[in-house]
Amino acid sequence: MERLNGKVALVTGGCRGIGQAIVRRFLSEGARVCVADYEKVDQAFSDALEGPVVFQADVRNREQIKLVCEQIVTKYGRIDILVNNAGIIRDKMLYKMSTSDWDDVLDVHLKGAFNCSQVVQQYMVQEGYGRIINLSSTSALGNRGQANYATAKAGIQGFTKTLALELGKYGITANAIAPGFIETDMTKQTAKRLGIDFETLVEASKAQIPVGRTGKGEDIANAAVFFAEESSSFVNGQVLYVAGGPKS
Ligand SMILES: NC(=O)c1ccc[n+]([C@@H]2O[C@H](COP(=O)([O-])OP(=O)(O)OC[C@H]3O[C@@H](n4cnc5c(N)ncnc54)[C@H](O)[C@@H]3O)[C@@H](O)[C@H]2O)c1
Repeated sequence: MERLNGKVALVTGGCRGIGQAIVRRFLSEGARVCVADYEKVDQAFSDALEGPVVFQADVRNREQIKLVCEQIVTKYGRIDILVNNAGIIRDKMLYKMSTSDWDDVLDVHLKGAFNCSQVVQQYMVQEGYGRIINLSSTSALGNRGQANYATAKAGIQGFTKTLALELGKYGITANAIAPGFIETDMTKQTAKRLGIDFETLVEASKAQIPVGRTGKGEDIANAAVFFAEESSSFVNGQVLYVAGGPKS
């Protein structure tokens, strides 16, 4: 049985990593999926999936996001699911962190989620239905070298709970997923910063994770389907840590 049959989804940053895993899973669950990604769209990815409509857009840019959403609504009539997934890291210890390291990270995660949610909610309110899923992180609890990112990911949790309060009466739920260590380009970048190879970082992380393994994009996609389902209508304003344990 397809759990998202006929639903229309927009996944930001869906061209690789966790976002791409969510796109693949949503397609397999019967959704019509659109992607807004900053990077130039990988045609091979788009062709291989035979399904997602991919737009090149920056979540920080309100006009670009408006245009993307208008095109989706013209094509499919509505947007049922928004996944605010686009993200970056600019890790540095506080004393080395530049203002642009701070601004870039807060802009992509917070202004990006604000832009996309505010544009999409008007269509969702019209339909009296919506599912907003935001990507937080275990780093929201604090993480060395990530003052900017931890702040953004904690902010995402407050943002999510507020959307849940404001939009619930319109049939719209807002929930967040807080992943632990997931093997993507983002964690490869972390290994580079630490000056170790990726396999070493994966092994070191595994030792800290109760289930004894690191996460994959599919683990997060699994949680995203749960929040995205129509039958999850009483699940609202929650943060689900998907990290292989209560701490990682
Ligand atoms: N990988 C992890 O361990 C992990 C853990 C916790 C949370 N997260 C969060 O999950 C989300 C996805 O992370 P990932 O590991 O797949 O990262 P990734 O770097 O592999 O992919 C991020 C995607 O976002 C896109 N993107 C970046 N800036 C953008 C912008 N301004 N506009 C549009 N698209 C933009 C990139 O082009 C890329 O396709 C992020 O929000 C990240 O913070 C990741």
